[in-house]
This record gives sequence, structure tokens and C-alpha cells, in this order.
Amino acid sequence: MARHLEVLEGGSTIWSALREEAAAAARAEPSLASLLHSVILSHGEFSTALSFQLARKLGDSEVGAMTVREICAEAYAAEPSIVAAAEADLSAVLERDPAAKGGLQAFLFYKGFLALQTHRVSHRLWRQGRETLALHFQSRMSELFQVDIHPAAKMGAGVFVDHATGVVIGETAVVGDDVSMLHGVTLGGTGAQRGDRHPKIGKGVLLGAGAKVLGNIVIGDYAKIASGSVVLKPVPPGCTAAGVPARLVNCPSCEQPAKTMDHTMPEIMDYVI
Ligand SMILES: CC(C)(COP(=O)(O)OP(=O)(O)OC[C@H]1O[C@@H](n2cnc3c(N)ncnc32)[C@H](O)[C@@H]1OP(=O)(O)O)[C@@H](O)C(=O)NCCC(=O)NCCS
Repeated sequence: MARHLEVLEGGSTIWSALREEAAAAARAEPSLASLLHSVILSHGEFSTALSFQLARKLGDSEVGAMTVREICAEAYAAEPSIVAAAEADLSAVLERDPAAKGGLQAFLFYKGFLALQTHRVSHRLWRQGRETLALHFQSRMSELFQVDIHPAAKMGAGVFVDHATGVVIGETAVVGDDVSMLHGVTLGGTGAQRGDRHPKIGKGVLLGAGAKVLGNIVIGDYAKIASGSVVLKPVPPGCTAAGVPARLVNCPSCEQPAKTMDHTMPEIMDYVI
């Protein structure tokens, strides 16, 4: 995780950069000062601000904000890797979203960032055997952010979910580190399989808007899935798949074969190009 922009230019951490942005925004827009104070400026560290933010979003009449806050705080204290993953997710927004002016807007408003952080807590609850509470978190995520990630799905760090509306990720899906996905992505089953039936997405993959990846197939590291594609077969590392059903449209040879010792041929024989 250290490879992400946890330390920004000038040596400031994500957290101190967030605080600086919040202070400047409060001065520039006094009508938001109360929000910025309660969500960012009144906290001493990133994790307490994040548990407060999730609590004010997810709390409802059944499971109140104070309870959500305690659940999140407990998860962050027990598993600091969840907080590190959240920081990496925020860094990913800064690195990859040309529209992002800073981390503050993502922390406050980005549905994809907030849905991912909700999932990270619900995934821990699921692993603890607290399945009904995990499903409550999933349900709130879906209602509030229009993102539906099953609590059992495994999500890497440094994941960027842009726009986010309509993203659906199934129970046995695995998403690697540094993946970016746009709105309308489905990582689903074909309907014909049971058990382990969802895609395994490698590191650094780009999933374009509306891409549907179906079945227990591997999308290799750094592959690209074009917007609007329906992918039913594995995609080799570094290749681009596009269309309905998807075909390989771009399959450059390994850029650093000596370094990676990659002397394999891309597995493109299943595809009609
Ligand atoms: C697939 C993508 C990542 C480009 O990858 P790439 O490896 O650089 O591919 P190229 O641009 O070289 O295109 C390769 C071929 O695929 C085709 N192609 C690209 N995107 C496609 C799509 N969505 N559907 C069908 N074909 C597509 C190109 O026309 C090209 O065909 P050609 O070789 O006959 O000219 C990009 O087109 C894409 O879909 N990005 C997602 C963007 C997105 O979701 N935007 C929403 C923002 S809100």
C-alpha cells in the first residue's frame, strides 16, 4: 500500500491534505463549515473521520449512526489494513480521476468511494460470521449509493469506482489491487453455474462503463474491458476485449518480457478476432 500516494507532494499525508482542503473550503463556503467541521476538522485522524462519515451516511432508524460508528471504529482498530486500503482508494481517485480537484470531494461525496468503504466494513462482518449485519450494510450501500457489492466479494486496495451508479459485484468475485471501474459494471454469474461462479479480476484492470463480465473467468492483470462489452471468456494479461460478445481487439506482446520472464503466448485461441 505504501506505493500509493499516502505521502503527497511536500511530505503531507492524505489526512493532513484532507484537513487543509476542508479548512480552505470552510473559509470559502461558510454554509458548509458545519459539515466540514463535523466530518473532517473535529477529528484527529483519518480513521475516526471515516467512521463518522460512514455513520452519518449509513445510520437509519433500525441501526442508528452511533452504532454504525462503533462498528466501523472497531473494524478499523482490529484491522488497520482496512484503513490503509481506504487511503489507497482515495489516492487512486487523485491519481486517476481528471475531474478530481482533491481528496475532499471524494471523501464527502463520491458514491464509489463511500460504497467501497461500506463494503470493506461489511466484508469484515461477513468474515466474522455476522452475516445479517453485513447484509444490512450491503442493503444501505445499495439504497444510498446505487452500488451492490456482496459482502463476501474480495476487493483489493487502491480501487477506483468512478460515477458508480449501477455497479454490481457478486458473492464469489475477486477484484485485484489498483483496478478502475466505471458506472454500470457487472461482475456476475452466467446463471448456469453455482458455487464459485463470479469473475476474478486481476491487478490494474480497467473495466469500462457498462461492461458485463460474467462467469468464473480470469481477467488478466492490466487488461482493459471496453465500455459496453459482454465478456464471457478469460482475457489474457494486458489485452483489450471489446464488443458483444467480447473479442480481443488489442493484445500487445509483453512490454517487459525479460523482467517478467514471460515467454508465454497470449491465450487468444478461444477468440475469433
Ligand atoms: C477499450 C478502451 C479502454 C481502449 O483500449 P485500447 O486497448 O487502447 O483499444 P483501442 O483504442 O486501440 O481500440 C482497439 C479497437 O477496439 C475498438 N473499441 C474500443 N472501444 C470499444 C467499445 N467500447 N466497443 C467496441 N469496440 C471498441 C476500437 O474501435 C478499435 O477497433 P479497430 O482496431 O477496428 O479500430 C476504451 O475504448 C474504452 O472503452 N474505455 C472505457 C471508457 C469509459 O468507460 N468511459 C466512460 C466515461 S464516463
